[in-house]
Amino acid sequence: MLQARITGTGSCLPDKVVTNLDIEKIVDTSDKWITERTGIKERRIVASGEAASDIAYKAARRALKAAGVRARDLDLILVGTFTPDSPFPSTGCVLQSMLGAKNAVGFDVSATCSGFLYTLSVADAYVKSGRYKKILVVGTDILSKIIDWEDRNTCVLFGDGAGAAVIEPTTRKKGIIDVVIGSDGKLGDILYMPGGGSRIPASKESIRDGQHFIKMNGNEVFKVAVKTMERVSREILKKNNIAPEEVSIMVPHQANLRIIQAVAKRLKMPMEKVVVNLDKYGNTSAATIPIALDEAVRDGRIKEGDLVLMAAFGGGLTWASALIRW
Ligand code: ACO
Repeated sequence: MLQARITGTGSCLPDKVVTNLDIEKIVDTSDKWITERTGIKERRIVASGEAASDIAYKAARRALKAAGVRARDLDLILVGTFTPDSPFPSTGCVLQSMLGAKNAVGFDVSATCSGFLYTLSVADAYVKSGRYKKILVVGTDILSKIIDWEDRNTCVLFGDGAGAAVIEPTTRKKGIIDVVIGSDGKLGDILYMPGGGSRIPASKESIRDGQHFIKMNGNEVFKVAVKTMERVSREILKKNNIAPEEVSIMVPHQANLRIIQAVAKRLKMPMEKVVVNLDKYGNTSAATIPIALDEAVRDGRIKEGDLVLMAAFGGGLTWASALIRW
């Protein structure tokens, strides 16, 4: 049976660095508070005029190069994002055009911070079914443009970034073992953006009322995130008869260091096995996992034969996990 495998990864972080000290000048907060409560020290922010597809393009080019795949040989482009360039055309279509991937079909997957693992799940199913062979999956988000820079509860947490991977079939006993995805729409109101869609279209009033910014019940999200990431990690391990101690390395969604530490503790996973880079980038939503994956692959922390566990949660509520034999 065909199995799907990641054959190349890439990422892109904007050049502009915004440190906690910079944020101290904007809202009533401190480097100490942000570091102790979140683990974040700085984040990257795009230039004005730059959009999700611009950084996705750079990440995609790097992933294609690493995989040795030409854009025109791609069959499918899947973009996980909740900050698309515009409501339509999809960022998948925009990226297809930028890459010159004329033989591919492109579309978006909206699952906030679980977006990348959702795209991986779709790609895995398509490869296993034999429908598509060369697939580009991307997580790209520009949070800096949808956060209220006057709200200290949210503006300290997020950043911009993109990560990508090329998925191809393999007959070897390697690659994506499983991807689990889930959602619970009843919990949608703990993390959401009310404006900008058909319910509350953009108007002078919606802008005045800040409806186009992220709204979050931080404490509630924190609790649900820890429980959900543990549960979805255990679920995929149990389903595949793998004990947590067999995992070589975990690449979790990077929202808050305390969330990651709590999940690792519950899974009895030593922190040395857990990839953490949120100190440098903050929460880049769908991009956190592919960026962390790309860094860990390039610096040799992920090696051939390693068993890689990934887990994410996000607004929706959505969650996902993936197991990969590298
Ligand atoms: N600087 C200083 N003080 C602050 C700040 C800040 N930036 N933000 C909040 N505070 C204050 C609060 O007002 C509160 O003050 P009070 O005690 O006088 O009322 C105090 O700090 C404690 O606030 P808490 O909310 O209880 O702090 P907590 O330890 O829970 O940390 C945080 C807050 C960091 C937001 C945490 O709850 C968290 O990380 N939650 C998860 C967020 C998350 O992961 N979001 C993911 C979004 S993913 C997506 O799908 C887009």
